[in-house]
Amino acid sequence: MASAEQLKALIKSHLEGDDQRFFSVAMQVAAHEAKLGHGKLAEELRALIDEAKRRRGAGQPVPISRPRGELANLLAVSYPKLRLGEMILDDKLAQQIQRVIREQRHAARILEHGLSPRRKLLLVGPPGTGKTMTASVLAGELGIPLFQIRLDGLITKYLGETAAKLRQVFEATDHTRGVYFFDEFDAIGSQRGLANDVGELRRVLNSFLQMIEQDRSHSLIVAATNHAEILDRALFRRFDDVLHYDLPDELQISVLLKTRLSRFVDKDVSWDRLAKEAVGLNYAEVSRAADEVLKAALIDGRKWLNDADIRLMLVERQNVAQKLKENI
Ligand SMILES: Nc1ncnc2c1ncn2[C@@H]1O[C@H](COP(=O)(O)OP(=O)(O)OP(=O)(O)O)[C@@H](O)[C@H]1O
Ligand SMILES: [Mg+2]
Repeated sequence: MASAEQLKALIKSHLEGDDQRFFSVAMQVAAHEAKLGHGKLAEELRALIDEAKRRRGAGQPVPISRPRGELANLLAVSYPKLRLGEMILDDKLAQQIQRVIREQRHAARILEHGLSPRRKLLLVGPPGTGKTMTASVLAGELGIPLFQIRLDGLITKYLGETAAKLRQVFEATDHTRGVYFFDEFDAIGSQRGLANDVGELRRVLNSFLQMIEQDRSHSLIVAATNHAEILDRALFRRFDDVLHYDLPDELQISVLLKTRLSRFVDKDVSWDRLAKEAVGLNYAEVSRAADEVLKAALIDGRKWLNDADIRLMLVERQNVAQKLKENI
């Protein structure tokens, strides 16, 4: 049996994504078992280690990497499994995202020919339309981690500190391949000339412009904003592509409702007619309404939903959305 120290070392190295250490401790455990005369177990352990090394060489499974030290306050890591097929997109947007994924999958061949695959993306559009979801899908499709940059950790009131932190993030893009997602990017990306702009913010934006331009990593850098109009024009040309998101139209709403709820209706429901009730809501609000209908049915102990249940929740969501708008 492996010693307590060995077990701890195995778990620690796994959590830290330190593959070399993990394999070396695992080999020690196998050697230890062999010495104790447990030849069969030792053999099995070695075979497992070889198999894991071989698979890792092929790029799978994804190595677990956790930002450490100061980076831990700046980056939140996750390993999304989301796929592109789970998003409802118009043709143009679907093609743009597919193109990024395809170029990334064939990155080696593209780089060999002195070209670079698309990897710096700006996502623009109203709330709840799939920007964050896109960052997850890119990570999921490419099998790489998603690092969300925490703006609260990044932007500090101390001069120079924010830029230094930003530099750390860009050093990480080089060190660990992933999707680096700058959400609410307008917080650092506002126009340099705005009257209320403080000097520090301008400096931060300038360093961001420089760093994104100089970034030669193999990571994806994805920035999202609801307010394209306040973004500095100089930013746009630093990105390889700009993706525009919009509220769903009737057809897209009907697809979303069907995807979420069709399993729970017994009779035919007129999805197209229901979708008309939801025009103006974003994808997140329609999904939310769908969840609410399901919850209500669960609580009532009902197995099947009907047209009226769904309509009621959509109308309620419209009212909530309206109230929120009025309060802004
Ligand atoms: N295009 C889409 N297709 C399917 N579901 C979607 C789509 N867009 C959003 N959703 C649903 O809405 C949820 C919220 O979307 P998401 O967080 O991606 O919005 P966002 O554009 O990042 O909004 P915000 O600007 O507020 O950050 C998703 O988790 C998903 O359930
Ligand atoms: Mg978002």
